[in-house]
Amino acid sequence: MTPTETATATKDELTHIVEALRSSMSPNGKKPGYGIIGTGMMGREHIRAVLQLDQAEIIGLCDSHPKSLELGVAEVVRSGGKTPKAYSDAAALANDMDVDAILICTPNFTHRAVFDEVKASGKPIFLEKPMATTLDDALYLAEEALSYPAPIQLGMQYRYKSQYQLALSALERGELGSVKMISLCEYRPPFLPKVREWNKFSEYSGGTLVEKCCHYFDLMNRIAGAPPVRVFASGGRAVNFTDFEYQGKTSDIDDHALVVVDYENGVKAQFALNMFSEELFEALTVGGSEGAMHTEEHASFKPGRPSRSSIKIQTPDHPAYEGVDCTFPEDIELGGHYGSTLFEHQRFRDQLAGAKNDGATCAEGLWAIITAWMAQASMRQGKVVDVKEVLASETLNPYGDGLLPNAWMANDARL
Ligand SMILES: NC(=O)c1ccc[n+]([C@@H]2O[C@H](COP(=O)([O-])OP(=O)(O)OC[C@H]3O[C@@H](n4cnc5c(N)ncnc54)[C@H](O)[C@@H]3O)[C@@H](O)[C@H]2O)c1
Repeated sequence: MTPTETATATKDELTHIVEALRSSMSPNGKKPGYGIIGTGMMGREHIRAVLQLDQAEIIGLCDSHPKSLELGVAEVVRSGGKTPKAYSDAAALANDMDVDAILICTPNFTHRAVFDEVKASGKPIFLEKPMATTLDDALYLAEEALSYPAPIQLGMQYRYKSQYQLALSALERGELGSVKMISLCEYRPPFLPKVREWNKFSEYSGGTLVEKCCHYFDLMNRIAGAPPVRVFASGGRAVNFTDFEYQGKTSDIDDHALVVVDYENGVKAQFALNMFSEELFEALTVGGSEGAMHTEEHASFKPGRPSRSSIKIQTPDHPAYEGVDCTFPEDIELGGHYGSTLFEHQRFRDQLAGAKNDGATCAEGLWAIITAWMAQASMRQGKVVDVKEVLASETLNPYGDGLLPNAWMANDARL
């Protein structure tokens, strides 16, 4: 069968994806209880998503900042949930008998410590991206996940944006043949305000390419299907937060970058970031042996400007050759990060039910951070970085069993 014959009509596939999400809402039987640690911007987005899907109860919330805790409790009630218990201690929340799963939505630099506080519970964990701010901590968490008695899913929900769900499934069906080149970009406004402004400092965020761009390196790695071997990046601080100070410290966060990645299987990839744009624009182009695919997303932080997504798959006679609008229906598109957060929770419920799913694993999160970290190192040093050499010089070995994403192992990507 040719790739064209196996291609699903893209609109039908989008409809199917949306229907599957809708049918996962409000399941019969007892709903699992979630405990959420960190109820800032993202913790509250998760509250809204979980309650919109009606797939779980929010049993308890924990935050070290009383105002965030108050806002979290109010968000649960406003979104139709019962008033949750308020905790100031993460371990106490994790050990609550009614909590079946734990969502960690605290700032990046706290992820390892919060995981350590709750791990004795052995309950399923959803951990926000990036899993850590350092290679050491990311490897520690990926290794811990290997012996953890329950699933740990990472918050890489960009994979579930409509255009990327369609792109990834078309690639899995081999519609482009063998992937050779990947090109990704993100244009967006500056980082938003955060509690104690942790995202303005590399020490707390891991640096812009780790903090923000791990989503894109996750996509890039997944599409390439092999480990990165060489990385070159150029970028820095051009416009944003150049004189921003918080508690006597000056921000050191980058706002633009161009990154080139060579993969072990010969795939070449590039990523462009610009964080001083008025509006959001994302694009992905994948070039394969049978043709090319182009996706775009236009979005906005400004109210009243909904997102628009599209995909073109230009292989002979493909149904999406001329391009297809793949924006989710409005109720879904409003469900956090243009609907992708809802799909991420659909995967997390699958994790709890032991059903097959493509939730982001710790191994995938680890390699997204390795790629991003190498790009930051290249940017600092102004030269190409050899991934294996740097990892060896840091005495880190992320090539062991279970630390490489399963899909790469299936592609025999391991050296
Ligand atoms: N997946 C995505 O697209 C996405 C988007 C935004 C943020 N995030 C991630 O979500 C996490 C939280 O980001 P945010 O935007 O909500 O930040 P935020 O600053 O708005 O909220 C973080 C909250 O965590 C609380 N907190 C800090 N340390 C804590 C601790 N040890 N125990 C309990 N609470 C603690 C803070 O008081 C604050 O209320 C980060 O890892 C961030 O990278 C992911």
